[in-house]
Amino acid sequence: MEQTIYRGLDGVHIDTTTISRIDGQRGELIYRGYDIRQLADKASFEEVAYLLWHDDLPTRQELDAFHHDLAANFPVPEPVFDAFRSMPSDVHPMHAIRTAVSLLGALDHEAEAVDDANVHRIGLKLLAQFATFTAAYQRIRSGKEPVAPDPALSVAANFLYMLNGERPTPAATRVMDVALVLHAEHGSNASAFVARATASTLTDVYSAVAAAVGALKGPLHGGANVGVMQALERIGSTAGVEPYVLEMLDKPGGRVMGFGHRVYKVMDPRAIILKDVAHHLAEESGDSKWFEMSLEMERVMDREMEKKGKQVKPNVDFFSASVYRMLGLPRDMYTPIFAVSRISGWMAHLYEQYANNRIMRPRLVYDGPTGLIFKPIEQR
Ligand code: SDX
Repeated sequence: MEQTIYRGLDGVHIDTTTISRIDGQRGELIYRGYDIRQLADKASFEEVAYLLWHDDLPTRQELDAFHHDLAANFPVPEPVFDAFRSMPSDVHPMHAIRTAVSLLGALDHEAEAVDDANVHRIGLKLLAQFATFTAAYQRIRSGKEPVAPDPALSVAANFLYMLNGERPTPAATRVMDVALVLHAEHGSNASAFVARATASTLTDVYSAVAAAVGALKGPLHGGANVGVMQALERIGSTAGVEPYVLEMLDKPGGRVMGFGHRVYKVMDPRAIILKDVAHHLAEESGDSKWFEMSLEMERVMDREMEKKGKQVKPNVDFFSASVYRMLGLPRDMYTPIFAVSRISGWMAHLYEQYANNRIMRPRLVYDGPTGLIFKPIEQR
């Protein structure tokens, strides 16, 4: 019987969800019923993380209690920092992040149980600690000591504080909050799917999250924002953008990082918001180089894809690169920052998966030889 094969699981729905919905034709994204544009405009990352884990936005009392619980879990065990100190300084940051998750699992005596209470306990710890160990990693590999989290600061403000050693301005905190809100959740993307598939064997949360970190690292997924900035830095000027894009598109299978999406066939609504943030940052900072180059890359890609009759638009990674650059964040930290946010979405998916689980086991259609007769090695 002829089997239908869905390469890349394109178009395959693995379950129902109440966490988020993407409308790829209209370019819309909602988290538990709220349009991403409202959330980016009005919510903090902690409010959105609460929303993703519960059925609605928190009341003031619920948000204060959520922040209190997060703050109590901000500190990271010292062995994680010792592991960072033992790493060569040129280790890919996502290896360090993945190692931190695995080590936290090794240090958690209650890591194994996957009942709802334990999964939520671990989820709260990871949401609280991703920002702490990510900022600490950057400082340790730069020869500095980690900065202890300030329980009075939000996840977004604390991340910048622990990274730079000084309290961020309200404007920088707001930009960080918007970026974390926009990167928090996106349905069954590769890393969330990997988290769910891993959890479907009923292994522990840390194993599922470590797997998701590995998937997010890839240049076709969360690693793309680093790729965007690498390209812009290599191009160096707006005049160099068109030749670069044409050269990339000329290569068989060539891909311009930050463009295209499996689901969106119009511009990613998150990219539209981040484009506006990048524009404001460029105007305020007077450093419009990266934004101008990004606009030129968008123009050339639009023109070239129009010629090919393809819908390949900027995705969330495209303008986040210039936003993070203008925030002064180190380029290879862009993907770890994606993980600092996406741990909230991954945990929402793990709550759903563990609560109504069936092990994931897709098939492959065998098209190799059959009926071969074993020959003794002397006869091969
Ligand atoms: C994220 O899934 C999610 O939701 C992910 C994410 C999230 O929030 O979790 O949104 C975050 O990962 C965003 C994507 C970041 N990745 C990149 O920017 C890498 C560059 N993009 C491409 O590699 C690609 O667009 C993907 C990986 C994003 C999507 O891959 P698909 O769906 O398999 O699409 P494809 O590679 O088959 O491309 C379809 C066509 C191709 O034409 P053909 O060669 O088949 O004739 O569109 C073209 C491609 O040529 N195309 C591109 C392109 N992306 C697609 N051409 C040039 N540059 C690109 N970036």
